Amino acid sequence: MQTSAHALELVEVEKQFGPVRAVDNVSFSVEKGEFFALLGPSGSGKTTLLRIIAGLESAGKGSVHIGGRDVTRKPPYARGIGMVFQDFLLFPHKTVGENISFPLKMKKMPAARQKEQLDWVLELVRMKGFEDRFPNQLSGGQKQRVALARGLVARPDILLLDEPLANLDRELRKEMEVEMRRFQAEIDIPFVYVTHNQEEALTLSNRVAVMKDGRFEQVGDKLELYEAPATAFVASFLGLNNTIVGQVTAQEGGLSTIDWKGIRLPVPTPEGVGVGDSVQYYLRSEKMHIGPLEDTPEGADATRLAARLRDIIFKGQYSDYFVIVENGEEMVISDVPDIKGITIGDQVAVSWLPEDGFAFAAKGDR
Ligand SMILES: Nc1ncnc2c1ncn2[C@@H]1O[C@H](COP(=O)(O)OP(=O)(O)O)[C@@H](O)[C@H]1O
Ligand SMILES: [Mg+2]
Repeated sequence: MQTSAHALELVEVEKQFGPVRAVDNVSFSVEKGEFFALLGPSGSGKTTLLRIIAGLESAGKGSVHIGGRDVTRKPPYARGIGMVFQDFLLFPHKTVGENISFPLKMKKMPAARQKEQLDWVLELVRMKGFEDRFPNQLSGGQKQRVALARGLVARPDILLLDEPLANLDRELRKEMEVEMRRFQAEIDIPFVYVTHNQEEALTLSNRVAVMKDGRFEQVGDKLELYEAPATAFVASFLGLNNTIVGQVTAQEGGLSTIDWKGIRLPVPTPEGVGVGDSVQYYLRSEKMHIGPLEDTPEGADATRLAARLRDIIFKGQYSDYFVIVENGEEMVISDVPDIKGITIGDQVAVSWLPEDGFAFAAKGDR
C-alpha cells in the first residue's frame, strides 16, 4: 500500500487486553506540521494507541505507517519517533545536557553533531545555561522542558506526547500550552498529543480525535467538533453544558417540541426522532443570555424562560450565572459580568436560540 502522503497513518488498528478492547478499529492520519490531539476520558485507550504508534505495544490487528513506511513490525528506535511522558522520566543522576543528549548517544552520533543538536534544542525550549544542572535543581516547568527537549533532540519525524502537562499546576500549564504551540510551529514536526483535558486539546491542536471505549467518536478540525459535535458524547465532553432530557410532544419544520419536566422547549429535530421519543439536548452556557425579567434581548426566535438567580460566579472576562427555572432544574449561563438590574435572588429571564443547542436521540431509543 502506498501511503507516502501522510506523516502518520494508522489503518484499522486494534488491541485487546483479555476481555478489554483497549483500541477498537482505529484508522486516521496526521499530516506534516499538524498538531493532533487525542482527547478522551481516562481508560478510553489513548495511551495504548500512542504506545502502538511508538512500537512499545504491538497492534493485535492493523498497521502503522510513518512517513509512508510500514513500521508495524519495527522496534521503537527504528520508527523515527520522539516521546514525552506525563512523569518526565528524567535520569536523576544525569545532568540536563546528558538527559537531553541521551537519545543521540544511543544512536552513537558523533560528539560534534550531538553538541550541535543539543544547542539547537536548548535554544528551542529556552533552557540554555541549564545544561549542567541536575533534575532536582529544576522547577516542574523546567523539567517538562527538558523532557520535551529530549523528545525532540534527534529531530524525529513525529513527536508523541502523553499528558505531558498533567503534573503541572494550572498556571504553569497555561504557560506551557502557549510554549508547546510555539515549539511545534517553529520545528514543523507533527505532534500527536494525548490529553483528557478538553480545554488543553482545543487550545493546542489543529485537529482533534475524541476517543471513547477504544473507538474514535469523531475526528476533525477542533472548531468543527466544537460547533458541530456528531454524537451526544462529543457534545457533552466539549464545553460547559446544560444537559436537558425530554420527550418529543410535537414536530414542525426542523424543530421538535420537547417536554422537559413540565417545560416545553423547541429543539432541532435529531435524525430519525419522532413524537414520543426521548431527546438529549446540550446547551453551551456561553451561547445563552441572562437579563432582567422584562427584557427580550434576542427577538421572536429565541427561547425564553423565567428563572430565579441563585448565584453569580465572577470569572474575569465573564461570569457564570446559576439559575433555577420553573420546573426546579438548575441551569448555568455564561454572560458578560456585571449585568445591570439583576442580583442574586431576583427573577430573571434566560434566553437562547434553539439551533444554538445540540440535540441527539437519547440512548436506547433507536
Ligand atoms: N497492559 C495492560 N494490560 C491490561 N489492560 C490494559 C493494559 N493497558 C491498558 N489496559 C486497559 O485498556 C484500557 C485503555 O487504557 P489506556 O490506553 O491506558 O487508557 P487512557 O490512556 O485513555 O486512560 C483500560 O481499560 C485499561 O485498563
Ligand atoms: Mg493514559
